[in-house]
Amino acid sequence: MTDCPTILLVAPTFYDVSYSINPWMDPGAWARDPRGMHRRAMASFDALREALGRAGFQVEVMEGAPGQPDMVFPANAAVVLDGKAVLARFRYPQRRGEEAPFAAIFEDLRARGLIDSVETLPEGCYQEGAGDCIWDASRGHFWAGFGPRSSREAADAMARHFGQEVVALELATEQSYHLDVCFCPLAGGEVLYYPPAFSPAALREIRARVPAAQRIEATEDDLRHFSVNAVNRGDTVVMTRTTPHLRTELGSRGYRVLEVDLSPYMMSGGGAYCMTLRLDRVSTSVRRAAAA
Ligand code: ARG
Repeated sequence: MTDCPTILLVAPTFYDVSYSINPWMDPGAWARDPRGMHRRAMASFDALREALGRAGFQVEVMEGAPGQPDMVFPANAAVVLDGKAVLARFRYPQRRGEEAPFAAIFEDLRARGLIDSVETLPEGCYQEGAGDCIWDASRGHFWAGFGPRSSREAADAMARHFGQEVVALELATEQSYHLDVCFCPLAGGEVLYYPPAFSPAALREIRARVPAAQRIEATEDDLRHFSVNAVNRGDTVVMTRTTPHLRTELGSRGYRVLEVDLSPYMMSGGGAYCMTLRLDRVSTSVRRAAAA
């Protein structure tokens, strides 16, 4: 595996919004000007790639597959930690066709030494990748969303695959259909989250584990700007064009916010985090072994 901060993107060559499997998706708006939308999507993608480079990432861009527009969101393709990728299983038939091309992509990444191994989930549960299973580097565990897309059992399967603690959080609304829409742990230990997205039990879990001083509550406006769906490295946060509230809040906590216009992807229910997948995340146990 690689020890340089590496992040996967999938080129938007085949991206469009042609079906609707979450409440943000707007195939009608896309259909009014498909060529113009595609042009804007390409420009947004380039801007994101550039911002990720400025945040210090090595960016790996892979090709998608025709007929699979949502491959542009590799956060849903797998969960990756300590060099191991566990491939996703999608809930909706519209996205199941991504599983084979993504398996080929991960095999290629393995052959090139960027990851060490590729594993598959047990039958009978859905799990939509890092979008629903987020590594919290400060606390050393995963947070897993379940409900609209991933199954509750997938959290236990992930704990077995990685030998790590997984804290399962029930998502209570279709608007926050993946955990990464409404939850983002930051490098300084803060957690940016949107409280109304969670069940009462999930909220209790978050508040028991994250002290009040480290909880940043997103507003509905922040959520609608897809600002919680952010990519963080050190003191840099890459996100779609955000709100005055979050600009001030993150700035006062010492973060530098790099904003990119990702509106063509928000029309599919995605922001910066969805469009990426970190390949180099390591758990504290692996980091300790490497230092020994
Ligand atoms: N249209 C995609 C879907 O509904 C968007 C996925 C966004 N990804 C994410 N990790 N939130 O599945």
